[in-house]
Amino acid sequence: MKIIMLGAPGAGKGTQAEKIAEKYQIPHISTGDIFRANISEGTALGKKAAEYIDQGLLVPDELVVDLVVDRIHQPDCDKGYILDGFPRTIPQAECLDKALAEMGTSVTCAIDVDVPDQAIIRRMSGRRACLHCGATYHIEYAAPEKENICDKCGSELHHREDDKEETVKTRLKVYHDQTQPLLAYYREKGMLKVVDGTRDLDEVFRSVVEILGE
Ligand code: AP5
Ligand code: MG
Repeated sequence: MKIIMLGAPGAGKGTQAEKIAEKYQIPHISTGDIFRANISEGTALGKKAAEYIDQGLLVPDELVVDLVVDRIHQPDCDKGYILDGFPRTIPQAECLDKALAEMGTSVTCAIDVDVPDQAIIRRMSGRRACLHCGATYHIEYAAPEKENICDKCGSELHHREDDKEETVKTRLKVYHDQTQPLLAYYREKGMLKVVDGTRDLDEVFRSVVEILGE
């Protein structure tokens, strides 16, 4: 099972990907989480990526593609995986297809979590993220048990730098210009599935399970 999560920033890709990873016991690979971990560790990749992320822009394809291709060659990816936040441009999707073809396989499906722009800004302002394990919370819709502490690993939660309203607006524009064309790309291949992401997160997950099977 090789699944791609598509959708605008804040649509709920990470939230659904975490649930899918748990139910189907496959790794959740989030390029955003990988970059944020590198930024908090102060690595060279993190420093480079932060220049783009803090402005709401995409990190250049060449910094992303090799990282993901290396990751999907790891042994824990043998049974499948869920890619969250990758691909994000047509060239990234083409590189992924090529790498998978060389491995004798292909994408199972791409799930678009569909949420209109108006609903996004509200979600981002209440989001809290664990920079240690990648878990995502929302102060209203998915609050942690203890305020500002991750339920999963006990680390402190953060309001992401790029979740400021002005930066979110840039990210939405970048999404429409560079990432949304992937919907047509996967639709033409007969791989696109769309779920209505405006509903409660458990209802969204029920639609995902209908697509992927019990
Ligand atoms: P990334 O971390 O991937 O950010 P993003 O795509 O902008 O998406 P988000 O993580 O912000 O949102 P999400 O859809 O995961 O929503 P979530 O589940 O958290 O990337 C960050 C940056 O890294 C990019 O801007 C770029 O610079 C760079 N980057 C990463 N990958 C790249 C690539 N491939 N190429 C180039 N650059 C790349 O949910 C949002 C909030 O809503 C949460 O608080 C959640 O609890 C809540 N919520 C979720 N679902 C629901 C629901 N159904 N109802 C109510 N609330 C909900
Ligand atoms: Mg995310």
